[in-house]
Amino acid sequence: MSIESLIQSLPKAELHLHIEGSLEPELMMHLAQKHQVDLPYKSIEQVRKAYQFEDLQSFLDLYYLGASVLIDEQDFYQLMWQYLCQCRAQNIVHTEIMFDPQTHTHRGIGFDIFMPGFLRAMEVAYQQWGQSSQLILSFLRHLPEQDAIDTFVQAQPYLHQVTAVGLDSSELNHPPTKFKSVYAQAAKKGLKLVAHAGEEGPPEYIWEALNELQVDRIDHGVRSIEDPELVQTLINKQMPLTVCPLSNTKLCVFDDMTQHNILSMLERDILVTVNSDDPSYFGGYLNENFLALHQAFDLTPAQLIQLVKNSFKASFLDESKKRYWL
Ligand code: HPA
Ligand code: ZN
Repeated sequence: MSIESLIQSLPKAELHLHIEGSLEPELMMHLAQKHQVDLPYKSIEQVRKAYQFEDLQSFLDLYYLGASVLIDEQDFYQLMWQYLCQCRAQNIVHTEIMFDPQTHTHRGIGFDIFMPGFLRAMEVAYQQWGQSSQLILSFLRHLPEQDAIDTFVQAQPYLHQVTAVGLDSSELNHPPTKFKSVYAQAAKKGLKLVAHAGEEGPPEYIWEALNELQVDRIDHGVRSIEDPELVQTLINKQMPLTVCPLSNTKLCVFDDMTQHNILSMLERDILVTVNSDDPSYFGGYLNENFLALHQAFDLTPAQLIQLVKNSFKASFLDESKKRYWL
């Protein structure tokens, strides 16, 4: 079997996906028209053309603009539904999905609008084809910690539907330690903890996520390679990194895919996984990320299978379900 067929046919897990980043230009334009939202794009081609980024912030500006078309429950349902249909098409049997409440609450759209939309789509996908999915509530790190704490209070009625909390948005100058209290509150509620760290930020931010926030997984973490002691710690702890190859090249974290360090990390026995991050902005869903790695590195079946196994191992599935897939 070719590697391309193996990529398609292997049952896979995805652990780093922002649901707002799966908003395809077609749905964005449709919802803009539905709600009379004024976007600076006249056509779907113009939207795609605008997706040229020089760093994380230049992407985030368009990502928040795009999210402004999401207004009613049906919009959030459709957004989630379209992503879950991609999971089905790509044989992603389990997915852990991040959402950014503050991106919506700051526009006057509450948990009572987006949560029912997300959950309804997740339930229909589960009923129709057994799609396994979980939610990760992510705080926006460019906002004050008090805003995250207030958001966590608003989330209380929905916490039984949430698996973990996360931390995303502009990394530089917003170190993990800023969110120490809200992470302690989430841990107390029995939630798992993840945080973006070492995407653009220095290895110190990864140390902080580990030691101050006590995270269970690091999102990105590609800059860990700059600190040998940190690398050894990640290996010893078997701390998962949710790496996003197309995202990293689109946001110029690496000049091109041949410069990416995921395979050297895999070789060193770091628990790295492959993910799509914001697929509609970065040019591909999970399989396209594997294909891009294959094009750059000529992946062996053994490497591919190890990466796929790592995602189940690093997931928040309970042990019996993990064992089923491993
Ligand atoms: N990094 C940080 N914040 C984000 C990202 C990302 O890749 N995608 C959506 N929010
Ligand atoms: Zn991300």
